[in-house]
Amino acid sequence: MVFRYSLTLVASGLALALAFGAEAAPQKKPKISFADDVLPLLQFRCGSCHTGEGDGLKISGLDLGSYEGLMKGTKHGAIVVPGDVLTSNLMVLLDGKADKSIQMPHGQKKLSTCDRDIIRTWIHEGAKNN
Ligand code: HEC
Repeated sequence: MVFRYSLTLVASGLALALAFGAEAAPQKKPKISFADDVLPLLQFRCGSCHTGEGDGLKISGLDLGSYEGLMKGTKHGAIVVPGDVLTSNLMVLLDGKADKSIQMPHGQKKLSTCDRDIIRTWIHEGAKNN
């Protein structure tokens, strides 16, 4: 009797946990939007060299004027690995962990911690075109 009672308790606890889990999932919206948060930042801080006739675009092939351009990366390949901040070369460069000569923005002030964290979180959340 006691045994059966506690089994029921465990079972209802499980059902509760499952219900909560299922409920929490759709509410987990990404915190960062590419269009609203990331793109304006790239346009403002990188656009002069990485769009149109800019040297950054010409030399590296990296077009930072659109989602497609960012995800395509440089002529050497992708710089954003969705969900993986550590292997995303974009973050390595922005955080100043690569050679000084290719720290970005090229020859200009590093992005603020806050700006870098916006891009970091966006990559962590799957680098979506949202
Ligand atoms: C003043 C111009 C300028 C600005 C501003 C600039 N870049 Fe660049 N970027 C360059 C140039 C020039 C290169 C090519 C450098 C080279 O290959 O030596 C480059 C190359 C790169 C590369 C490829 C590096 C490699 O592996 O060869 C990345 C990634 C990059 N830029 C990202 C950015 C990002 C992100 C921003 C904005 C935060 C930015 N850049 C702002 C000029 C700029």
